[in-house]
Amino acid sequence: MTGLVDVARHAAHAAGEILLEGLQKPIEISYKGVRNLVTNIDRMAEAQIVETIRHHFPTHEIEAEEGSQHRTGSPYRWIIDPLDGTTNYSHRFPFFCISIGLIFEGKPHLGVVYDPMRQEFFLAEAGRGATLNGKALRVSTVAHLSESLLSTGFAYDLETRPENNLNRFVRMSLVAQAIRRTGSAALDLCYVAAGRFDGFWEQHLHPWDTAAGVLMVAQAGGCVTRFSGGDYSINDPDVLATNGHIHAQIVQHLSREDSHA
Ligand code: IPD
Ligand code: CA
Ligand code: CA
Repeated sequence: MTGLVDVARHAAHAAGEILLEGLQKPIEISYKGVRNLVTNIDRMAEAQIVETIRHHFPTHEIEAEEGSQHRTGSPYRWIIDPLDGTTNYSHRFPFFCISIGLIFEGKPHLGVVYDPMRQEFFLAEAGRGATLNGKALRVSTVAHLSESLLSTGFAYDLETRPENNLNRFVRMSLVAQAIRRTGSAALDLCYVAAGRFDGFWEQHLHPWDTAAGVLMVAQAGGCVTRFSGGDYSINDPDVLATNGHIHAQIVQHLSREDSHA
């Protein structure tokens, strides 16, 4: 097991076991903010993933949500969310995943997202497409916003942020067929890649939320930009990912002056 994909797959599956086992026991919750939770399981899963990657690729850089960092100057940089959907997880609401992205020379190179509840393994490789459990992924063909199922999310500190997405949520609710708030941005992006959602937008996400998922959407034929329609990078504060057909329509709505916040 030396290839990048194999190591990422192994790390995600091992972390998935930790998440599933953790559901059988009391979950220890602590707070990073009023509604921003972290559990003992986030930390255990992160330790497992980081150990696996460091064992196989000791010179690669690593950045993970719960604090693991490995700075080496390597052109390879792993960006890890050991548990995306922690609030869901802590309530035993079965929608969460592990997200592992690999950046090479500043560009998304590999993305792995694993949903252990459904045993769904999403994989994207730059220039080689995206798959779900080995089957090619393709975005949906829906061309009208009024027929679109969209997804979004909100930052934990929404009561203190002027740009908290509530106005945009209301505005988009009036023009889309329906909107869902799943609680896992990485799975939202994979669901756009799989054609289950036609589009997704969110503000104030972190690189570990999107590093794997945006490659998934791009490699499944979708479109990923800022709200403005400009180029997106994982350090940007807003992301819009769609099937491409409805992209311009959503850019129009999200970038309207009166839809800010
Ligand atoms: C959160 C989830 C959620 C999104 C939040 C993220 P976490 O990540 O992706 O869907 O709306 O903005 O912070 O904290 O569960 O890893
Ligand atoms: Ca996350
Ligand atoms: Ca997380």
